[in-house]
Amino acid sequence: MKMVIAIIRHERLQEVQDVLDECGVSGVTVTEVKGCGAQRGYTEKYRGAAVHISLRPRLKIEAVMRSEIVPTVVDKMAEAARTGEVGDGKIFVIGVEDAVRIRTGEHGPETVQHAERAMWGH
Ligand SMILES: Nc1ncnc2c1ncn2[C@@H]1O[C@H](COP(=O)(O)OP(=O)(O)OP(=O)(O)O)[C@@H](O)[C@H]1O
Ligand SMILES: [Mg+2]
Repeated sequence: MKMVIAIIRHERLQEVQDVLDECGVSGVTVTEVKGCGAQRGYTEKYRGAAVHISLRPRLKIEAVMRSEIVPTVVDKMAEAARTGEVGDGKIFVIGVEDAVRIRTGEHGPETVQHAERAMWGH
């Protein structure tokens, strides 16, 4: 299994969730974060003075899934999150040793996939 971590714009959440859902990923964790990328922020005028705004709000999407589907999911997530402007975000992939469904005690990849679309957010 792998965890796909994507930093995206707020307005792309639904499209990214739709990708996870259609690929059979059973869940997602979404966190409000702040960060900066290569541009390291920008300068804005506030009451006549230049103020450096270094961190922009973004959403962090964390989804654990079967390793086999990762390349497809990552490509589709990138497509769903892309506006073409700087600041569209990043996607990271990390290894996951195990997953447990607490209610049943089941372990492994079956706990992170679903057979039917859930239509999250619709
Ligand atoms: N190396 C990194 N490690 C952790 N988070 C990162 C990294 N790079 C970017 N991020 C996160 O992704 C968000 C968006 O990054 P951003 O899209 O600006 O990356 P970029 O490399 O500057 O690409 P672009 O040139 O398209 O803007 C940042 O606000 C930050 O939260
Ligand atoms: Mg940037």
